[in-house]
Parts: sequence; structure tokens; C-alpha cells
Amino acid sequence: MSLSCDGSPLPVVHRGRQGLTCRYRCGDACAQPEPNRSANPYFGEVLQTVLDRRGILRAGAVLGLATGATALVGTSVAAAAEPLPAAPAPSPAPYGLDYETVPPNLEDAVRVPRGYEQHVVVRWGDPIVPGAPEFDFDRQTAEAQAQQFGYNNDFCGLILLEGPARRWVMFNNHEYTLEPLMFRDYDAEAPTEEQVRIGLAAHGLSVVEIVRDRDGRITVDVEGSRNRRYTGTSEFVLDGPAAGSSLLRTSADPTGTVVLGTFNNCSGGVTPWGTFLSGEENVNQYFANADPADARLARYGFAEGASERAWETVEPRFDLAKEPNEANRFGWVVEVDPHDPQARPVKHTALGRFKHEGATIRLSKDGHAVAYLGDDERFDYVYKFVSAKTVQNGQSRRAREHNRSLLSDGTLYVARFTGDGTADGEFDGSGEWIKLASGTTSFVPGMSAEEVYVFTREAGDRVGATKMDRPEDVEPHPTTGHVFLALTNNTDRGKAGKAGPDEANPRADNKHGHVIELVETDDDPTGSTFAWSILLVCGDPADPSTYFGGFDKSQVSPITSPDNLAFDSHGNLWISTDSGGALGQNDGLFGVSLQGETRGRTTQFASVPIGAETCGPVVTDDFVLISVQHPGDVDDATPADPASHWPDGGDSQPRPAVVGIWHTDEDGRPTRIGL
Ligand code: FEO
Ligand code: CA
Ligand code: CA
Repeated sequence: MSLSCDGSPLPVVHRGRQGLTCRYRCGDACAQPEPNRSANPYFGEVLQTVLDRRGILRAGAVLGLATGATALVGTSVAAAAEPLPAAPAPSPAPYGLDYETVPPNLEDAVRVPRGYEQHVVVRWGDPIVPGAPEFDFDRQTAEAQAQQFGYNNDFCGLILLEGPARRWVMFNNHEYTLEPLMFRDYDAEAPTEEQVRIGLAAHGLSVVEIVRDRDGRITVDVEGSRNRRYTGTSEFVLDGPAAGSSLLRTSADPTGTVVLGTFNNCSGGVTPWGTFLSGEENVNQYFANADPADARLARYGFAEGASERAWETVEPRFDLAKEPNEANRFGWVVEVDPHDPQARPVKHTALGRFKHEGATIRLSKDGHAVAYLGDDERFDYVYKFVSAKTVQNGQSRRAREHNRSLLSDGTLYVARFTGDGTADGEFDGSGEWIKLASGTTSFVPGMSAEEVYVFTREAGDRVGATKMDRPEDVEPHPTTGHVFLALTNNTDRGKAGKAGPDEANPRADNKHGHVIELVETDDDPTGSTFAWSILLVCGDPADPSTYFGGFDKSQVSPITSPDNLAFDSHGNLWISTDSGGALGQNDGLFGVSLQGETRGRTTQFASVPIGAETCGPVVTDDFVLISVQHPGDVDDATPADPASHWPDGGDSQPRPAVVGIWHTDEDGRPTRIGL
């Protein structure tokens, strides 16, 4: 039976889906016992009937599968832009969300609303620096890959560049590789050295300059002065209070301050001071031969035996029997300054070490940088970091250097959510940010500050943090400052011997995830208390356990497994999904109203091809960017028998890519999004 990434049986969708993703992205995390075996308390079982009692379930028409939609296997991007059958239009459409809902579908195409255009901005293997070779699937080399766009782009961040042209610097994470889809002759038991080195080069980060023409198309300027790749062998500097610790020293780096590579970079953030952040997530899977008696390795999922990609056969540092501390040098938040190609990217130990999804920043009124952080594992925690120093305005060299040090020193907290009971008919309550460490001071009994930073999960266990349903993006709203938490799913919630439902994670066997809104006390992000409430309980709206902020469920799209979050200039929330087929539909991008009578109104804006997940949304007034990650990733797909031919159509191999989407008027001129 095919299993989704949360271990639940998959529906039959084209073929079994995403077994490769589970192995190659998460190291089959969901097929293993969850690493958090701590006995943290939970707050008692919450009855599902409360949801019904609230009167929020309104039976009625639901946006079902598009009966007129046909599979477009092998379609080109141009063909994929054909209009979809009309779907029921929710009304009234809030400002910025006025588009025709894309119906759920199983097409091998990116689908966008009628009146919108799309094209591929950059795809796996595209040259991104001068002189880079053109992509050749059958003759790929590590040297070429290190000059080309990497594999499986996830987070996408943009910074507008000054000057007359519509030009941005774009930052992309390349979370993980899918070797069985990248090489025709791949033998997982004995990969060649060149295949290993291509894998190392296809991981990491890309920085590229992009330009938008008058017709709305966005393209990479290969000559951009900021363009570069960071790969699995690039140098990264460890900074902050744990840098240089004996826990971070290896035979190749006795200083404990310089690491080769960044892996499994999932989501990220754009800082107010003009840098990019990237979260190292499921890094355990790259390492072999963990000592099973080492509880600290087990808490992070490091396991015995060979690693999935067998990198330890080429680079001994991936063999923990030989280099046990190499494991501790991954699982950090990375910061990249796109404007300073000479500056080595930094891994910030002050933000703790766990399976970082991403990191997003809110500035306090007096200029402290507050980073919100999620640890994406079943029953793991939500964190925040408050900088000791305050931001300096301007882009002078001195200001930039100062601001690049903001995440190097501060206070790290973990969240405890307390429900106020369900008698009020609301899933809500209060919360506490529990201090873990500040600079070189530990607040966790039995752990030094260095240990808190390097073994942060253990610190959270010891102080009784709340076990959440896989915290993915945790993002502050740009105008209200309210923090939205995507809790993607957790089918182990409520299973025998595991934490049961609580008011903040109210659904046992939570297949479809939920979204929480967190409000800092007195609107002060540096404080230690907050209030929270549930905005969405995802799934098919016909499912009585779902909740859409109280909005009429007959007018919302089915949505499952919220992953990445973004906001538009009108204050709407956008959610991209990573479902593994949990609702029998392709993943997509959804717009969610947060205001007034339409609060909770959730409608699908785009869908991605077979086997893909949607990541990295960027929503501007003029265009939307999405990352289409792992197209064609279904269980039995191979290069000889691809499950997807997106984006190039014909008999081509699937290639992960960034897609630009924009609206045009009747004359084909670009106009604004969602109006
Ligand atoms: Fe890489 Fe948490 O998704
Ligand atoms: Ca309540
Ligand atoms: Ca993610």
C-alpha cells in the first residue's frame, strides 16, 4: 500500500504517490516512531462535537471535483493555460481574492484561474551563471549542476532591486534530490561517485536576478551580478553562542565554526534588513551509522545503517561512526546576504537546532528582531527568538554588517499553548513563551546554554512545551503582526500511547491539518505571553470536523495539509499545500480572507501537476510565484516511464520549477492580481 508522508494510506491517484518523497525528503520520518517520546503534558481530550455545537457546519454544496476537467498528461505549459470549466464563484469576493476558483483536479499541469497567464521562470538544470552549460538530462555532471538551478525548489523569496528596471533578486531553497528520477541507471544500493556529487551540487540554495518584461513574463538574467549557487560543499560559517563549541568540532574543522554545505532547506524568510533566511529541516537522513544508544541522535531521527543516498561512501563526514559531531552542524537557520557575494553564508546557532521549516521576522516597535520558528515533526514545537540588539536603518555597509549580526545574539523561547476550555464554543486560549537560553545563559535545568542551542528539542521537552501537529510556516502578518501557524497534519494524534487531542490540536487522526492565529500580548512580540485561536481546520468542507473561520462552508475549496504561508498587500493570507494526495486532488495555492464577514473564505487559486507539491508562494500586486516541487513523484515512476512530463511536455522528464502567474486584461496587458 502506498503511504503518504504522514503514514496514512493514499487514495488511488494516477499511481501511488510520493513514496519517493517520503524517503528522499523526510527520510521516511512518518513511517518511523516520532522522535519526541517525552512525557510532556497535554490538556485533555477535546470533543469533536464542540465543532458542531458552534453551528459552523453548514451542509450543502461543496466545490467538488471538476467533472469537465480532463487529464493533460504531456501537455505543454502553453496548452496548460487553457481555461478551466467554471467553478462556483464565492461571493462577495474580498479585495485581492477576486478570481475564479480553480476546481480540484488531477491534471499534469499548472492550473490558474481564467484570465491569468503563467510560465516557467526557471527550472531544474537551467543555467544561472555566465558560462553554465545547458541542461542535458543524460549527461549531467556535478560541475554543471553547481552552475545550474538546483533540484526541488521549495522556499522562494524576493527582494526588489533599486533602479529603473523591474528587477528583483530571487532566492530559492533546493530542499532535496530524487535520485531515482534524476538518473536513468540509478542503483540506490551503489550510487556512483559522480551521482553522489551531482546530488550534493543539486542541494543547497540559488540566488538569481530576475526581470519582468512589459508582457508580464519573468526571466532570469544569467548575467546578474548577484547570481550564485550554494551547494552541499559550499562553506558556511557557524556563529552565535554555540559556535566553536566542542559539540560542533570535527576532525576537518577543529574550530567548530566552518561547515561544508546546507541540506534539506525547506522554507525560509526575507528579513527587513534585506537578507534571506533558510531552514535546514530533515537533515538526519543524510547521515549513516548513528549510535542507537545515543538518545540525542535519536531525538533528531538519526539512525543506524547506511543513509538513503549513501553519501558516506564518498564523503566520510556523513558516517557518524567516524565523525559523530558532523550531525550537530546541520539543522540550523541559514542567513544569506544577496548583496555581498564575498560574505560567507551563516548558520545561526542562537536560533536553536531542530528540523527548521523556516524563519520569519517581525520587528518590535523599538527595533528588536523577532524570529518565528517551526519544528516540522509530529508532536514537535513552535519557537521564537528575540534579538538582543536592535535594527539599524539604511543600507550602508556598517548598517548591513550590524543587521547581519542581529540573529547572532538574543533569547530563544519555546511555546506552550493552554486552552481555555471548549465550553465557550471556541478553540482558543492563552500561551506562554518559555525562555530556553539567552546568550550564554541557560534557563533549562540540567542543560548548559551550548546544549540548549545544539539539542534544542531536548530543551523543549524538559520545560513542557506543547506538542503540535507538525509546525510548518510560522509567519507574522505584515500589518496586524498576528502570527499564523500552519500545522500540516498528524495522523498519530490520539493513537494509543501518544498525545491525544488538545484545544490547540483538536483533531485526533489529523489528516488534513489546521491553522492557528497567535496574538502577542499588548502587540509586543518581545513579550512572553500570547493569545491564540484556530482559524482553519482543513479538509473537505463536507467533513464535519472542518472549520473555515466561521465562513459558509458551501463556498470554500477543499484544502488539506497547509504548509507555506504568504500575505498579499490587501492583508489576505495565502496557503500552499503539501498533501501527498490526502484529498485525492493535486496540491495547490489558496487565498484566505482574514477580515470581516468573509474571514475564513478559502478559495483555490492554482493547482500543480501530478505528484508535485506547491511551495514558496510569493504574492505581489502584479504577479504570483509558486515553487512546483517534485512533479511526477509517484511510487513507480522512473525516467523510462515518467508519471509527469511537466513543464516541457512531449516525452520530456519532469523538472521542478518556479512558475510566474499574472493577470491580463482583454488586450493581453498585465493587470493586478485578484482584483
Ligand atoms: Fe519540508 Fe516541513 O516541509
Ligand atoms: Ca475555548
Ligand atoms: Ca514545507
